Amino acid sequence: MAKDHQVDIEFNVSNAGPVIDKDIYGQFAEHLGRGIYEGVWVGEDSDIPNTRGFRNDVLNALKEIKVPLVRWPGGCFADEYHWREGIGPRNERPVKVNTHWGGVEEPNTFGTHEFFEFVELLGADAYVNGNLGSGSVREMAEWVEYMTGEKGSTLANERRANGREEPFEIAYFGIGNEAWGCGGHMRPEYYSDLYKQYATFLKTPHGKKPKFVASGGHSEDTTWTDVLSANIEQNIDGISYHYYTLPSGDWDAKGRAINFTEDEWLATMNRTYKIDGYIRDNVAVLEKNDPDGDVKLYVDEWGTWYDPEPERDPGFLYQQNTLRDAVVAAVNFNIFHKYAERVTMTNIAQMVNVLQAMILTDKEKMVLTPTYHTYGMYKVFQDATSIPFEIETGNYGSGDKSVPAVTASVARGTDGKLYLALVNLDPKNGASIDLDVDGAKLTKAVGHILTANELDARNTFAAPEQLQPAAFEASLKDFDIPAKSVVVVELK
Ligand code: AHR
Repeated sequence: MAKDHQVDIEFNVSNAGPVIDKDIYGQFAEHLGRGIYEGVWVGEDSDIPNTRGFRNDVLNALKEIKVPLVRWPGGCFADEYHWREGIGPRNERPVKVNTHWGGVEEPNTFGTHEFFEFVELLGADAYVNGNLGSGSVREMAEWVEYMTGEKGSTLANERRANGREEPFEIAYFGIGNEAWGCGGHMRPEYYSDLYKQYATFLKTPHGKKPKFVASGGHSEDTTWTDVLSANIEQNIDGISYHYYTLPSGDWDAKGRAINFTEDEWLATMNRTYKIDGYIRDNVAVLEKNDPDGDVKLYVDEWGTWYDPEPERDPGFLYQQNTLRDAVVAAVNFNIFHKYAERVTMTNIAQMVNVLQAMILTDKEKMVLTPTYHTYGMYKVFQDATSIPFEIETGNYGSGDKSVPAVTASVARGTDGKLYLALVNLDPKNGASIDLDVDGAKLTKAVGHILTANELDARNTFAAPEQLQPAAFEASLKDFDIPAKSVVVVELK
C-alpha cells in the first residue's frame, strides 16, 4: 500500500552557509548536432525571426531563466577548434568536418564574435574553452590576446577590423577538455606540466584575467583532482569534473529517454545521486591539497545521457526530455548547493538540442523542456545565501538502488526572501513535510510545483505545453508534496 514519506527539516533562519554562486546555473553549448546551428544561430537571412542571426525565441526563453554563463565551443570539439577559422567575413571562413560529432560540415559561421554577441544578448558571462589537444601554446595565447587586447597590437587591431572595438570579457578560460580522453589520452602528470606551460603564456590586460580552468577527471575518479591540485601551484582557479547520468551505467546501452519503466526511473535516480559521493570525495582531495579553498571544483559537464532516438543521427546526441530529467536536475542542484563552498560553477550538457537540453527546436518550432522549467523555478537560488539544515527522510528504492526519497535546499535569496526547494524522487509516494524553524514565525509556503501523472510526461512540438510549473500553496501545518515532483516555494 502506497504510503507518504515523513520528512523532517530543521534549520535556523539566522544561520548562513556559503553563497550559491549564480554560475552553478551555467550552460554548455558545443558545436554538436543542432546545438549551435539551428538551435541558436540561424543566420541573418533566415525566415526564423532572429536578432543579427540569433533566433529570437531561443534568446527570449534563455533570458527568462537568467542564464548566467555559457561554455563554448566544446567539449571534445574544443580540442579540434582553431579560432582563426571562425573570424573574419563569414562567407570566407573555411568549412571543416566535425570529426567528433556526426562527421558533418562545420561552416565556422558561429565563431568568436558570434559567441560573444550571443552571451551579451543573453546578459550572460563567457566561458571559453581553449584547444590544448591539437593546438599550440602560441595559438591559445594569440586567441586570448585577440579577445582581450586593449593596446594597438596587430591582434587587437584585427579584432577591431572584424567589428569589435572593445575587448571581449572572458569570465572563465578552460585549458583543454577531458585530457584523459578525447582531449589527448594523457596522464594527469603530463597534463599538469602542459597546463603550467600553457597557463604561463595566457596574458591579459591588468584586471582582465579570466578564471583559469584545468581539465580534470570524471565519475568516481579522484586521481585527476589529486594530481592537478598537488602539482599546479599557480595560475589555476578551478579543476573541472564531468559526470553523466546513464540510467544503466553502460555506454553501449544507456537506456531510453521516453517509454521507460519504473525500474529505469529508479536506476536513473540512483545513478544521478552518485554524484553526491563523487563530489564529496573530490572536495576531500581539494581540502587536503588546497586547505585555503582557492581551487574550486567546476562540474562543467553533467546531465542525463540516453540512447539516441532510432530515427536520428546518433552523432547528434539529440534526446527527449521528461519529468524524470526535471527531477534529475533538481536533485543535482540540491547537491551542488550542499557543496557551494567548493562547487561554484557548473554547466549542464547541453543548452539546446543536445543531451539534457533546456530547449528543443525543429526548424521554426521550439519547445521548452521540463529541465528548462526546473532552471526557471530554481533561479531564485542564484547568488542566494544557503542556510544549513538537517533533513530526515525515508528512502526510495532498496538494496544497492536506494536514494533519499526527498532532497532539499534552503536559502535566503538576493531579494531577502526565504526559499525552500524540495524534490520527491519517489514516483509513487507523496511526502509530508514537517518544518522545524528557529528564528522566524512561518506559516505558509507559496511558489511553484512541477509534476505530472506519467513518468515520461514531456513537451513535444505537437503539444508544447503539456508540462509546466503550476502555482503551489500550502499551510506549514499541512504541507504535503506529491510523488515525482519538484517544488520551489517562498516560506512566509
Ligand atoms: O557533452 C558531450 C561530450 O561529452 C563532450 O564533448 C565531452 O567533453 C564529453 O565527453
